[in-house]
Amino acid sequence: MPFIRESWYPAGWSAALGAEPVARTFLGDEVVLYRAENGDPVALANTCPHRFAALAKGKLHGDAIACPYHGLRFGPDGRCVHNPHGPATGAMRVRSYPLVERHGMMWIWMGDAAHADPAGIPVLSAREDARFDWVDGYLYVEGNYQLVIDNLLDLTHVEFLHPFLADPTDTFPTEVTCFEQGDEVVSRYTRPQCNRTQLVAGLWDEAPEVISLMSEMRWSAPANLIQRNGFDVALHTDMDNTHAQVPLCHLLTPETELTTHYFWAGGRNLKRGDEQIAQGFRFGVEGAFKGEDEPMIADIQQRMRGRDLFEMKPLLLPIDKSAVLARRRVSDLLKREAG
Ligand code: FES
Ligand SMILES: [Fe+2]
Repeated sequence: MPFIRESWYPAGWSAALGAEPVARTFLGDEVVLYRAENGDPVALANTCPHRFAALAKGKLHGDAIACPYHGLRFGPDGRCVHNPHGPATGAMRVRSYPLVERHGMMWIWMGDAAHADPAGIPVLSAREDARFDWVDGYLYVEGNYQLVIDNLLDLTHVEFLHPFLADPTDTFPTEVTCFEQGDEVVSRYTRPQCNRTQLVAGLWDEAPEVISLMSEMRWSAPANLIQRNGFDVALHTDMDNTHAQVPLCHLLTPETELTTHYFWAGGRNLKRGDEQIAQGFRFGVEGAFKGEDEPMIADIQQRMRGRDLFEMKPLLLPIDKSAVLARRRVSDLLKREAG
């Protein structure tokens, strides 16, 4: 299965890459991530060109990583900088991937390195906004990334799949609108009235039992989704001014055709600096993503048995509009790269 390669993909939260090299597969490519002496992150192909040992199992020597088998060392640009058995020649090299840190995330470019322009890295403005405290996390999904996008662009599942995030006794209506805006596909959920949920009650002490909610998910290719949630006593159309705000980032990188790296971050503007709330928030989000979404996506993938979604002629509901728009854009981008 082809992937969109000419794009920046999340490779890992910056804080998660320490002194030890880490092996990770992106778009089917095996990569080793490590930090150079000045702290800059480096991404190289993980396979030594000599006898294909995993470089990630080797040791760092200054800015270079040494193969654990016969000791060739490769620098951040992928060139061999030390050959214990003779001269280091230009033919001794591994692929080096552009890697840039921004918004607490390492972004890797999986396409032609000559096209890697950091200006194209997704802007996560809420991550730079001092009003929010963040909890970052990671989830390994046994599912194709497009199934994860389908899941996130249709949050009507929350009511059925996530009891912690929704109140199943809530009968107030939700208005769902799906539209395209520039490079983004948007799903917007408007609830002038809804029951206060456990999550909201935990963050907002004075929340009345019935509140209002505005929620929005913005997808941009290939697989970055930025969600904003605003809770208040009465409906605000300007989400920036709602009383309780919970922005979320869902940043996906296909590992293989069947598996996905899912990096998530949850922000909050209330009870900042409260470690207990941060733990509860993590527990709630992980419970939903890991305990409820991931098993559902993995199960659906198994049930699809390798068939294409549209070949299976799914029943299409109005709430599917965003997911269908996003899939169409992905397939257009794939065609453009192939053509
Ligand atoms: S396999 Fe890496 S140096 Fe031989
Ligand atoms: Fe979900």
